[in-house]
Amino acid sequence: MQGLFITVEGPEGAGKTTIINRLTNDLEKQGYPVVLTREPGGIQISEEIRKVILDPKNTVMDARTEALLYAAARRQHLVEKVVPALNEGKIVLCDRFIDSSLAYQGYARGLGIDEVQSINQFAIQDVMPDKTFYFDIDPELGLTRIKKHSGREINRLDLEKLDFHYKVREGYKYLINRFPERIIEIDASQALDVVYDQVMEKVKMFIKG
Ligand code: TYD
Repeated sequence: MQGLFITVEGPEGAGKTTIINRLTNDLEKQGYPVVLTREPGGIQISEEIRKVILDPKNTVMDARTEALLYAAARRQHLVEKVVPALNEGKIVLCDRFIDSSLAYQGYARGLGIDEVQSINQFAIQDVMPDKTFYFDIDPELGLTRIKKHSGREINRLDLEKLDFHYKVREGYKYLINRFPERIIEIDASQALDVVYDQVMEKVKMFIKG
């Protein structure tokens, strides 16, 4: 694969989506071929799985079912959209990927990072991101940002107690220690422009190799 696979991770309200949209626009203006996509979703089958996972009505969903559905959505999205784009030499920017499953299902839900890694291994078959940005923010501040931002729906995961979101953050911190070469931590409590400049600078470095 000749393309560049970059994923963006972090808790709710960290500003990931805003940054990634702007990044796509600017890279395209500079002539780079970019595919912007998201998980769970990005293509029809995975968007349908997304609706089932995130529907606030689905309160009975078992944690393993949840993990399997995320992995299924991931698999389809990967083979149908991400891998073909990488094979065409494109830059793929993906809003969330396997680290979300490891932090949310593996760590915060308590399924175990290694267990969730292994079901995901079946789904992704070693296609891992070249680089991953982790946007770090205090979960309480993140959730306040979402509530203020009227364009974003409140989903089943947002409705988890604050304690859960602190665990998600701990999960990400563990992953940064485990994969220090791949995951770059960004302080998302800073002003949006500052965060953006830091991300763009790194992306330019990755493009240059
Ligand atoms: P989304 O609206 O995309 O959230 P955000 O704007 O915060 O990225 O909803 C995705 C939700 O699904 C989010 O709460 C994180 C969660 N999630 C997991 O728990 N595991 C996963 O593997 C993925 C991809 C997402």
